[in-house]
This record gives sequence, structure tokens and C-alpha cells, in this order.
Amino acid sequence: MLTKKQTQVLDFIKAYMAKHSYAPSLEEIKKKFKLASVSTSHYYISKLQDAGFLNKEHNQPRAVSTVEAKQMIEIPILGAIAAGQPIEAMEISDETITIAKDEIGKQGKHYALRVQGSSMIDEGIFDGDIVVIRKQDVAENGQTVVAVIDDNEATLKKLYRENGKFRLQPANPTLFPIYRDEVEVRGVVVKIIRNLESQLDQGQSRDEKYVRKIDYSWDYRGEKTKSHTHGIHTYPAMFIPQVGRRLLETYSKEGDTICDIFCGSGSALVESRLIGRNAYGIDLNPLAIFLAKAKTTPINPQKLTKEYIALLSRVEKIKDNEIKRPDFKNIDFWFKDKVIVKLAKLKKAIREIKDETIQNFLMVAFSETVRYSSNTKTGEFKLVRVKGEKLEKHDPDVLGIFRKNAEKNIAGMTAFYKDAKKDTWTKIIYGDSSKDNGIKANSIDCIITSPPYGDSRTTVAYGQFSRLSAQWIDVFDDPNDASGVDNDLLGGRASKNLTHILSSDYLKESLEKIAKQDEARARDVLSFNIGLNECLKQAHRVLKPKKYFCLVVGNRLVKQVRIPTDFIIAELAEKIGFTCEDIIVRNIPGKRMPIKNSPTNIVGALEETMNKESIVVLRKN
Ligand SMILES: C[S@@+](CC[C@H](N)C(=O)[O-])C[C@H]1O[C@@H](n2cnc3c(N)ncnc32)[C@H](O)[C@@H]1O
Repeated sequence: MLTKKQTQVLDFIKAYMAKHSYAPSLEEIKKKFKLASVSTSHYYISKLQDAGFLNKEHNQPRAVSTVEAKQMIEIPILGAIAAGQPIEAMEISDETITIAKDEIGKQGKHYALRVQGSSMIDEGIFDGDIVVIRKQDVAENGQTVVAVIDDNEATLKKLYRENGKFRLQPANPTLFPIYRDEVEVRGVVVKIIRNLESQLDQGQSRDEKYVRKIDYSWDYRGEKTKSHTHGIHTYPAMFIPQVGRRLLETYSKEGDTICDIFCGSGSALVESRLIGRNAYGIDLNPLAIFLAKAKTTPINPQKLTKEYIALLSRVEKIKDNEIKRPDFKNIDFWFKDKVIVKLAKLKKAIREIKDETIQNFLMVAFSETVRYSSNTKTGEFKLVRVKGEKLEKHDPDVLGIFRKNAEKNIAGMTAFYKDAKKDTWTKIIYGDSSKDNGIKANSIDCIITSPPYGDSRTTVAYGQFSRLSAQWIDVFDDPNDASGVDNDLLGGRASKNLTHILSSDYLKESLEKIAKQDEARARDVLSFNIGLNECLKQAHRVLKPKKYFCLVVGNRLVKQVRIPTDFIIAELAEKIGFTCEDIIVRNIPGKRMPIKNSPTNIVGALEETMNKESIVVLRKN
């Protein structure tokens, strides 16, 4: 469904193109319709693209063209739905909306509803929006559904099954959940069509400087994320491969050289190789570098299997007196003595493999074995030791854990070896992305990355997560250096004071609000953003003009203040020489990151950190 204004903009673009054979610029659209700013023109273009009337042609300055041939589908608007107290289920109306078929997936029947109320605002669903629903009578935990309760009362809520009951959860912290023994599901939300028109035409208020677009098609809920070498080792906040691939396919082309400036365990790099892009990866955590190399280096599976079988027979024969116990601080606190002996035998057998790539690949399974056989609680990002009876009973089957991992990894490598494009390369750099790492200026076709959410102390401690593995597999000359990693990552060292020259109103406002409650936390946030700004500058240096830089970021809570990192990045980047072209919001169904933490640092005071992330799409001017 196009609004009157959108139709006028489309007609203008068509007429302009007929005359000039190219599209009008955002500036020309702004002038023509007396819009408040070019981001408002951009908003209209995005709406027309979303509705399937314009193509995205990213590599041209006037980057739109009209589409006539896209398959459109007409969807009935069945009526209103309460995002608040349930109302009488859907009255019938004869309105329809027309949207591009590929925006809602190929499967299923759809209908649309107009939203009333504010109970779903944290999901980006506002009063007056239209939601497109795929008809189905079952839903997964956490999906936003049309639910009918109490004999024909309909409501829009997130659905959870708990202890044999259903919880209908509002996405608004001021409202309580509804519990019922029975709930009838009438469909799940697949798309939200925001009613932003009126706000945008009234000019540019602070909140409208950038527009966040909620797009559930980026969720990839329930999809397989461990194909190829993606599943060989856990790492915090990994890319969902589908997100990495979609960004690569949208913003780069085959044969391009891409870069992930916070490559972590290398998910984007694996996807690059699978779809024919060369790739640089940079990270400052040595374990991440080790994993990224292993994940992106194809190994002949026959050779690998042969070495693995030989390794298993060797390890059985190693005697206790032949092994060297690793020597790092607190080893006895984190590992039982007999576990240390078994791990040391396994390590010795792996080290005897002559082919270095095979040795490293099997060392990845060993690294996972270290994590699972240590005295730490699994499922934690920080190192937390199990206690009491649990610790006493802890008797891990070290070789069994290794075999399970190694065999799963070999299967992953078999698929990667088969599918990776042979004529591509991956270069992985151990370095700080806020500095020059030797990549040539204007040489990269696309940057795809996911920065940390904040400093390691209060968000994900990449270094701490990696420490025991890193100490066992010798990625440091001195294993005791492994404890220092987190201090070197973004935001690792708090700023001395709150004076800075960063040009972001959003950051300024967040810092002021946090500093009122806790100055030290505000300095942490500032230090992180100063580092991030330097990384944006380096990204600008290496990227070719007119090319894209996509960042998947989270807007974290600090002291109850939601920091709009997506908007901050957009503001900082625009000062450096990028244009922010899009901010897409996706749900995080399966990312390995702390859903709860304690921002107040009060034990038990849990607070949801993040269940959504933004994809900020920047383009170098
Ligand atoms: C969100 S994770 C990336 C995860 C990655 N996308 C994956 O799929 O595994 C962020 C990464 O940034 C790295 N990092 C933090 N500060 C850095 C810096 N200054 N330079 C380079 N890497 C840094 C961390 O070590 C971590 O691996």
C-alpha cells in the first residue's frame, strides 16, 4: 500500500528518469517536496524499495531504479488488533495492502491487522502500525503472535510456554504478562509496516534523525547456524551465518575483497569463502585469531581423518611420565589433577602431527575439550567455578569429549572443503582495529562486522571466555599473558575524565544521563566510543569510495540508560565521511551472549541486556 505522498515521490522519480535516464538525487527529492532533510527523502526511497516499487542499486550515486516486474501480493487488512488489553477478535474490513512477495517469504497465507495500543513498543510495534501475519496455529517460544483468549478476545503479544501454561508477554516494561491455560494462536507477525509518515513530514525532531526499520526477515529463527566450519567452536556473540551471508550478498559481489574488522571466530570470513569473496579478518584476541584461521583453511577430509585415527591410537599409549604439565597461574583451581594429565596426553599427541593445518584444526576440538572438562560452569561467559558437591562429582570423560568434538568438526570441514571456492583467499591479522594494520588505503570493497557491545568488564569478556583454552593451546608465549586480553579490547581502559571531542549528540546525552548516577560507568562508555570512533576512521581509510560498511550492533543498557549505539555510530561515521543509508533492526533468536546481566552490579538484580540488534549500513562518500 502506498500512501499519497509515497505515490507522489514515485511519480516524480519516474518522470525524472524518463527525462534524464537516471534517478534524482536525495537532495533533489528533498527540494521537490520541501522535506526537512535528505534522510526524509531516504525514508521515502526505502519505503518504495520495501514496497517493491524501486530497486536497490548500491554501487551508483543515484542509486534507485523503478521496478515494474517484482511479484506483488495483495493482503487483506482484516481489522484492528489490540496491542494492549485484548479486544473482541478482528472485525472485518475491506481494505488491502500490496507488498512485494519476497518480503514475507514464499510459504503460507497472510493477513494484515492495524495495531491499537502500546503494549508492544519494545518490539518496535506502535499504535497505528500495520502488522502482516502469517496464518498458523502453532508458534515457537518468543514469537510475536495473534493470540485469542477467553472466548474470542484477540491480542498481539509474545508467546511463551512455561510449566504447562502460556505466558502472553507484552513488550512494554510497564505492563504485566497475561497467563492462561489455553491460548489459540491465529498467526505470527512476519512484517511491521510503520506509520511514520506524519512524524516525518513534521520536520526533523532529534529522535527522527535516523529511522530504524524493524525487519523480521533478518531473524533466521530456527535456522541451522552450525553448517560447514561454523560450529567447530563456541565463541561469544557470533554472527548468524545467514546474516553475514545476506550482508555480503547485498553489499559486495563475487571476486571482491571484504574485511571483518572485529572478525572474532571468523563467521563472516567462512561465509566469504563459501560465496567467492576474498577476505581480511582482524581481531585482538589471540584465541579468536586461532579459531578464525582454522575455520577458514580448507583441509582435505581424507588426510584429516587419517591423522585423527592415528592420533587416537597414539594417545592411548602415552605414559604419565612422558607428559609436560602446563605451567600457568591457578591451573589447579580450574582443573582437577587427573583431568590435567589426560589433557596433557591429548595435547602431546596432537602436537606430534606434522601437518600444521591439521594440527591446528584438531587443536580447536582440544580447546573445546579444555572448556568442557575444566571446573567452570558451562554456559557462562565469565570464568565461574562450580562448587560443592557438583565440583566433587565432576569427572569429565576428556577423551570422549574430544572425540565427539573432533568428529563433528571433521564433518564440518568435509562440507567446507567441498563448498569453499578454491580460488579465494583469507588473511587473518592479529591487530587492533583502531590502528593501521597494514591494509592498503582504498583497497577494500566491503566491510562487514560486529563490534563488541561495550567494554569487556560489563558486557562480554572475550578474553576471559578464551583464557583457559588459550593457556592450554599456547597461543601466548607466556600463558599468564592471557589474563590481559580484555584490557586491550575496545573500552578496556576507562577514560580518565569525561571530556572528549566526539561529535555525537546521542553519545553526549547518554553520557550525561549515566554520569549523573555513576561517573565511572560513564567513563567506561566514553572510552569504548573513543576506541570505536578510531576503528571507524581506519575502516574509512581502507574502504574504497562509494562502498559499504555494515555493522551489526547492540544498544545496551547501562544504569537503566539505553545507549543508542546504532545512532551514535551513524553520527560519528557521518562526520568521518560516510553516509548512513539504513538501520535495520532484527531480533536475536540464538546468539550466544548474556541475555541477562546485572548492570547495577547488585547480585540478583537481573536486567535484560539485549534481544535485538541493529544493522547499520554506512556508505563511504
Ligand atoms: C562481537 S565479537 C565478533 C564475533 C564474530 N562476528 C564471530 O562471528 O565470531 C567482537 C570481537 O571484537 C574483538 N575486538 C574488541 N576490540 C578490538 C579491537 N580494538 N581490535 C580488534 N578486535 C577487537 C573481540 O576480541 C571480539 O572477538
